[in-house]
Amino acid sequence: MTPKQQELVRTSFELALPQQEKFAEFLYQELFRMEPKAIALFRGNMDEQRTKLLRMLRLAVENIGKPEELQPMLYNLGMIHQSFGIEPHHFISFGQALVFGLKNVLNEKFTPETEDAWKDAYHYFILMMTNFPHASDGNVQLPHN
Ligand code: HEM
Repeated sequence: MTPKQQELVRTSFELALPQQEKFAEFLYQELFRMEPKAIALFRGNMDEQRTKLLRMLRLAVENIGKPEELQPMLYNLGMIHQSFGIEPHHFISFGQALVFGLKNVLNEKFTPETEDAWKDAYHYFILMMTNFPHASDGNVQLPHN
C-alpha cells in the first residue's frame, strides 16, 4: 500500500465513524445475505460483535503504517478466528461486505480510489490474520526446480 492509500483508508474511516453502527449493520447484513450459513457461526450477541469488530477495525486502521504493531494483533485475531470454523470463501465475502458497508454510509465520498485503497488494506489485514506459523516457521521446504 502506498502512503497515499493508507491516508485514504484513515480519512475515510474517520468520516464513517459518526455512522459506524450503521456501517457495521450493513456489513453483517451483506455478509449474511452472501453467506447465509455463516449466521450459525455467530453464537454471541450481535450488538457486542459489532462493537468488537469496530474496535478492532479502528485499531487496525490507526496502525496501518506500523506492521510491528499490526502483525501480532492481527495474528492473534486470526488464531482466534481459526477456531470459529471459518473457510477461505468467508474472507472474500467479508471483504466485499466491508466495502458494501462503507459505500452505504459514505456514498459519493467513497470514491473509486478510496475503494481500491480499502481493498488493498483488507487484503493486507487478512494476510496477517491467516499467516499462521505452520506456513512460516522455517521448517517448510519450498519446492526447487
Ligand atoms: C478483517 C477481518 C475481520 C476482523 C477485523 C474481525 C474481527 C473480529 C473480532 C474483534 C471478533 C471478536 C473476538 C473476541 O471476542 O475475542 C470477531 C469474532 C468473530 N468473527 Fe471476525 N473479524 C474479521 C473477519 C471475519 C470473517 C471473514 C468471519 C467469517 C464469517 C468472521 C467471523 C467471526 C465469528 C464467527 C466470530 C465469533 C462471534 C461470536 O462469538 O459470536 N470474522 N471477529
